[in-house]
Amino acid sequence: MNKRLTAAVCLAALMAAPINGSPQDTGNTANWQPIPNPVMPDPVLEKRIDGILAAMTLEQKVGQMIQAEIRNATPADVRKYALGSVLNGGGSFPQTNKQAKPGDWLALADAYHDAAVDVGGTRIPVLWGTDAVHGHNNVFGATLFPHNLGLGAANDPALVEAVGVATAEEVTATGIGWVFAPTVAVASDFRWGRTYESYSENPDIVKSLGTAVVNGLQGRAGSADFLRHNRVIATTKHFIGDGATADGVDQGDARISEAELAAVHGAGYRGTLGAGAQTVMVSFNSWQGKKLHGHEYLINQVLKGRLGFDGIVVSDWNGIGQVSGCSNADCVPAVLAGIDLFMVPEEWKAFHGNLLAAVKRGQVPAARIDDAVRRILRVKLRAGLLDAPRPSQRLAMHPAKPVGAVEHRALARRAVRESLVLLKNNKSLLPLKTEMHVLVAGDGADDIARQSGGWTLTWQGTGNSNADFPGATSIYKGIADALQGRGSVERSLDGNFKTKPDAAIVVIGEEPYAEGQGDRRDLNQARARPVDLALLKKLKAQGIPVVTVLLSGRPLWINPELNQSDAFVAAWLPGSEGAGIADVLFRKADGGIAHDFTGRLPFRWPAEPQQARVIRDASAPQPLFPVGYGLNYAKPSTLADDLPEFGATEVVTAASEIILFERGPVVPWKLSLGDKGGWSLPVTGNTTTSANGAVTVSSFDRKVQEDSRRVVWNGSGVGQVFLNSTSPQDLMALRKAGGALVIDMLLESRPTQPVELRIDCGYPCGAKGNLSDVFKRVPLNTWFSLSMDLYCFEKAGADLKRVDTGMLIATSGKLSLGITGVRMVPGMAGKAVIRCDAPRE
Ligand code: BGC
Ligand code: BGC
Repeated sequence: MNKRLTAAVCLAALMAAPINGSPQDTGNTANWQPIPNPVMPDPVLEKRIDGILAAMTLEQKVGQMIQAEIRNATPADVRKYALGSVLNGGGSFPQTNKQAKPGDWLALADAYHDAAVDVGGTRIPVLWGTDAVHGHNNVFGATLFPHNLGLGAANDPALVEAVGVATAEEVTATGIGWVFAPTVAVASDFRWGRTYESYSENPDIVKSLGTAVVNGLQGRAGSADFLRHNRVIATTKHFIGDGATADGVDQGDARISEAELAAVHGAGYRGTLGAGAQTVMVSFNSWQGKKLHGHEYLINQVLKGRLGFDGIVVSDWNGIGQVSGCSNADCVPAVLAGIDLFMVPEEWKAFHGNLLAAVKRGQVPAARIDDAVRRILRVKLRAGLLDAPRPSQRLAMHPAKPVGAVEHRALARRAVRESLVLLKNNKSLLPLKTEMHVLVAGDGADDIARQSGGWTLTWQGTGNSNADFPGATSIYKGIADALQGRGSVERSLDGNFKTKPDAAIVVIGEEPYAEGQGDRRDLNQARARPVDLALLKKLKAQGIPVVTVLLSGRPLWINPELNQSDAFVAAWLPGSEGAGIADVLFRKADGGIAHDFTGRLPFRWPAEPQQARVIRDASAPQPLFPVGYGLNYAKPSTLADDLPEFGATEVVTAASEIILFERGPVVPWKLSLGDKGGWSLPVTGNTTTSANGAVTVSSFDRKVQEDSRRVVWNGSGVGQVFLNSTSPQDLMALRKAGGALVIDMLLESRPTQPVELRIDCGYPCGAKGNLSDVFKRVPLNTWFSLSMDLYCFEKAGADLKRVDTGMLIATSGKLSLGITGVRMVPGMAGKAVIRCDAPRE
């Protein structure tokens, strides 16, 4: 192999796209209808705030404007800096213990409270916020409700209000007073990884369900329950246009008119603010090129001015750092834009110093600080916090139903039943009789983490097993219970069985993901999970009636899977109560219908893999099913078994760029590592170590949360990290187009042994290059693009027509590097760091 190196290593300028200046600063507030505030102005309360403000130092005021993360702020910090708020991020628990008990949460809440009200301090209680977005989902043993898109399918405001009440009780039972929910995004491109946090593409449904959940969480404005007695403060988020970004890119740019922003993406705010939601979280996205976190027009003039919002505007996780000219620790433009409370999870101390200095320099008027603190105090006073004892005493006075209460689980199970959408039911296969032998197949059937999706114990919902969900029920378990004493059930991952079944229930679909990492390039599910389609085909070929249950956080292109199924149910991300599925699939003992399907599609369903955008005018292509579609037992299905398949499982042959890793592995690629103890272990959660400890992969932030991976080899033996796919790719066209493998990386230490870069074509087929020379030259701790001509791999013996491992790095020495992007890029071979000069064709 030719190891000639180009002299200079290209230092990739992977800079964020420049943030445009903004003509929108002179927007037209007439696009926005004022929202009547159901919470009346209270002169007595405002007077009390005057008194508190007058007694506070500037340092304390700035402290009130900070929300730190519990991993980075002790009760002593809360006292010393008079912090206004703390949060636990996704996957953050007391003592970093995933199995922390409700009592552990409560004890920590008490500790923060006691520190804040300690004599000598401000005596202003601290507010703790948490992402209870489908139940109290960070807490071990909590009831997990269907994610919002499932509730959108149920479209039952009374149910959603009850879900809000139950969530508020479980949150209160852990001493927490504030939740970062609901998300009122109107998801408008299903490639967006947060589509499941959206109730619907229909703004009216978002408005109605957002209103319902705020009523449940906070209590109805005007009632004696409002923000009292086991209710919590709600957040309506992410303001604004999070669901409108181009190509569904998370934290991307919403290039839409102000009229559309207000009418479509503002609908949820009209509902939730109209119900008295006390806080609004600003969105990571931009509108017409300008980041919301610095958007004075939209925050100050529209939200606080025209819409009349008088509560707290909170920033999102390090969101200020993305504003032009800002860092995570310093952002005067965001303060001036109108943000009141700053979610600065890690660098809050530096932020405190910087904001203090900016006020002293006169860059931030004292009045702006007073406005922010007034709003924070107003919400705390409305919630009764300043007159309340510590959280555990509040709970003793008004006992809340506990975490995982049976009543809450029953409610969640009902929500699951109502959320199911029946897409196909040929020859009325459903409902099934319970006197049957049923095969339950597919790797989603007995996996509670899978049915719960992202924002479940961990941020991305990865790294969890059934043991992490005491009290929960998998879909399989629900079926087994339903058949108990009548029929029989056999469970199998791969579809093999001992006794030929009367019917198979196959649970397939997406694996857990959350923001950023859940973004997709298309909706072709057969390409993302060929194993699911193969399983359906295997059963169908044996003449077994197939009922498919799809777990997904969005509509997917599933024509091939539909063709192999006699009945098909979209189950979304149902959460902890998987038994709700058997409730609807099976008849009662007397043969009657137990529960019919009532769910209706909250999103249009794609007829083609690329049909991901919601187009709201007559130019919209015909979907496979429209919004509102859903069969029931009275409505027989007429769906054909030969829907067009568009070469669903064919390998990719185009000469266009392939992205393997961007913020996370890109479907169908997966990130794994290994050593002699096991060569292939999927990377899940924040940190994964190979069996013998040779290599560890962990997440870290480069531009946004956990968009990069650090790979550390400890020198104890060969270790490897790799990106592979179960659907092999044909890279020949790309190679002929001058393709190169490009890895955006950072070298943190020089290797102590040779390092190889490999691509495989079904191991042992493969070829490698040597990175040792490159790693001697590149500067340490500086991002650069390592590129290698694809022809080098071909020349060294790889079959580029069937590449299943697109990148593998291995060494037996010590080495630490960061990886933020992996791509195959046409036209790069001549400029590659490692070139091989392919013969001219
Ligand atoms: C998300 C928010 C969430 C916050 C705190 C952010 O990355 O966008 O929805 O509330 O993290 O975990
Ligand atoms: C953190 C999570 C947090 C998330 C917010 C991640 O980097 O690990 O705890 O919820 O960012 O988006």
